[in-house]
Amino acid sequence: MLTYEKAKELLGSYGQEHLLDFYGELGAEEQTSLLAQIEKIDFSILAALDSKNNEALKRGKIEPIGAVTIADIEKNSGEYRSVGIDAIKAGKVAAVLLAGGQGTRLGFDKPKGMYNVGVTRELFIFECLINNMMKVVNEAGAWIHLCVMTSEKNHDDTVGFFREKNFFGYNADYVHFFVQDMAPSVDFDGRIYMESKSRISSSPNGNGGWFSSLVRSGLLAELKESGAEWLNVFGVDNVLAKIADPLFIGAIIKSGAQSGSKVVAKSAPEERVGVMCLEDGKPSIVEYYEMTDEMVNQRGDDGALAYKYGVILNYLFSISKLEDINKRSMPVHTVDKKIPYMDRNGDYIVPSEPNGHKFEKLILDMINMHDSCIPYEVMRDREFAPIKNPDGVDSVVSARKLLEENGVTL
Ligand code: UTP
Repeated sequence: MLTYEKAKELLGSYGQEHLLDFYGELGAEEQTSLLAQIEKIDFSILAALDSKNNEALKRGKIEPIGAVTIADIEKNSGEYRSVGIDAIKAGKVAAVLLAGGQGTRLGFDKPKGMYNVGVTRELFIFECLINNMMKVVNEAGAWIHLCVMTSEKNHDDTVGFFREKNFFGYNADYVHFFVQDMAPSVDFDGRIYMESKSRISSSPNGNGGWFSSLVRSGLLAELKESGAEWLNVFGVDNVLAKIADPLFIGAIIKSGAQSGSKVVAKSAPEERVGVMCLEDGKPSIVEYYEMTDEMVNQRGDDGALAYKYGVILNYLFSISKLEDINKRSMPVHTVDKKIPYMDRNGDYIVPSEPNGHKFEKLILDMINMHDSCIPYEVMRDREFAPIKNPDGVDSVVSARKLLEENGVTL
């Protein structure tokens, strides 16, 4: 636990000492809470305000990238499966579920994983994901460690729900929770806002904060001790996610690459999904809004879209490479927002115009920090049913349909 002196020193190095201005006025409990918040803040994110970060966000030369295709996988499935199963049996693979998001588009007031997609029975998003993992656990005859990343905002609800539901039949000794770090909200001069005398204004630091948060929680050390070498990271949205898929693991291990990313062929050129590419010769992901019309419609010699491999937030990373990456700073994305705050007189102000920045790190930026990342193509109607919205595209409605098509009783 951070002491007052240590907190002061830390804040001093970032020019943010004012967070302790009212410390002397607080009761013991509030003082402890304020120090705990300071400890959980990812101050490195303030580097976003440096011009160097803008350099990091600039794009290099973008070119198409090849993938391990569905046909390649079919041809080598026996070998991939056996390498993957061996790795799982040896405890070399752990899974990381990113569930720290706020799910604003879905508009559900609880953690997204607690959403019930069932129709005639209860079937929660977390339950779908655990059921998917159980298939591999049964096939391999070995439990797989699952680390669930929550945020300060949804941690208690998430942990309580898993306990209440008895971990949906999963082995509780293999389920671990960690809280992602927070990013402070700042005014346009980079000064961190306070919400009250004892509360820092902050929000989850984006899904790219997962690895540093895992390290900081002490869980990475435990995973390594148990023999883990690879982490399969996936999001909470996709109810058809195949987790710790032996074929995927086998293909990436066999390839000798540092990482792999599951991809699906885009449904249409204008589909709003990030695509894998090469950027200055290294693997990368370009977001749909960064693509020019020419790139969107560009075709290769075979007539297929040149940038057709959309990412589905299912990655396999080697832990040793992640540790290497973690020594470097990740690009930080800044959004201008209306941030309620306490002014210098201690009054709470709700602004009507944007008055500062919020920050986020994105997991997709990790790909370009690798020397190699294999796009691994999967069938979208078997493995991709994201729930972002209540209805329409990528919604509860579209996911229910896909679940049924895949034999899941709703
Ligand atoms: P999204 O980009 O869909 O964000 O997250 P979101 O906050 O969940 O949803 P919207 O945009 O507000 O509707 C993709 C994945 O990354 C996780 C989410 O839980 C989801 O699995 N995530 C996102 C985090 O774990 N932490 C974050 O800070 C943000």
